Amino acid sequence: MTGDPHAFHEFERAGWERASAHYGDAFGALTRQTAAALLDAARVAAGMRVLDVATGPGPMAGAAAARGAQVVGLDFSPAMLAEARRHHPGITFREGDAEALPFDPYSFDAVVMNFGLLHLARPDAAIAEAHRVLRPGGRYALTVWAPPEEAVGFGMVLRAVQEHGNPNVALPEGPPFFQFSASDEFRATLGRAGFSDVDVRTLQLTWRLSSPDAVFDALSTGGVRTAAVLRAQTAPALEAIRTAVRYRVEAYARDGAFIVPMPAVLASATKGQL
Ligand SMILES: C[S@@+](CC[C@H](N)C(=O)[O-])C[C@H]1O[C@@H](n2cnc3c(N)ncnc32)[C@H](O)[C@@H]1O
Repeated sequence: MTGDPHAFHEFERAGWERASAHYGDAFGALTRQTAAALLDAARVAAGMRVLDVATGPGPMAGAAAARGAQVVGLDFSPAMLAEARRHHPGITFREGDAEALPFDPYSFDAVVMNFGLLHLARPDAAIAEAHRVLRPGGRYALTVWAPPEEAVGFGMVLRAVQEHGNPNVALPEGPPFFQFSASDEFRATLGRAGFSDVDVRTLQLTWRLSSPDAVFDALSTGGVRTAAVLRAQTAPALEAIRTAVRYRVEAYARDGAFIVPMPAVLASATKGQL
């Protein structure tokens, strides 16, 4: 990464503070679909100590607690943590940074992170931290989005910005959003961090929407980087982008709704025994 990691980290934190009230409505029904596969990949079961990194409003923490695990959810956004505590009053949530976890080595049997890695200034540092806090033999499972040609909700917005707006607005530079969508890169990064038994596979999520404007609205309010790109457009460009995205979503009309493919990539691995 060539940009300033600190500037990107602060940009993301401010962005999530702003998006926290919208993220659950915008993306919750979609991102929750990974829960069973993610927790199965981490082999989460009753009594295990589980850390959910970048917990957001806490859907994975909630699903792990429902399996009887002892869960801690961690996020760097106080506003997101307020959402998490509101939705899951019985779970422990902590403020902290995925890249510098506030836990001792060997504190957890499993670490999960659902759609967190692609928001980090230093994803390698977060993977190293997960490895540090896992006990030997512990499991790590995490998801990112598939490339935009497959996760078409992202693809249609990025394409509309290219066609009708300015994709090159000045933002703090972070790692490429789709860096880990390529399974080879994901596998190699986990291997370099000392994980073994690395498995990478695709989860076929679908975004069921009641309005053709829902994709544009979700990406304008419920996230950070694309939302910042959209905010930087002129009013006429933004309207043209909205219209182009609506038109593309309408192509996915089915049974009175819009069913947009949004596959995710799930990676899982084991921390080797000492
Ligand atoms: C896309 S949301 C995912 C939320 C949740 N895991 C889910 O499944 O819906 C990304 C979350 O990562 C958090 N986050 C981003 N960078 C972080 C960091 N460096 N440390 C901790 N949390 C971070 C954000 O505050 C946000 O809540």
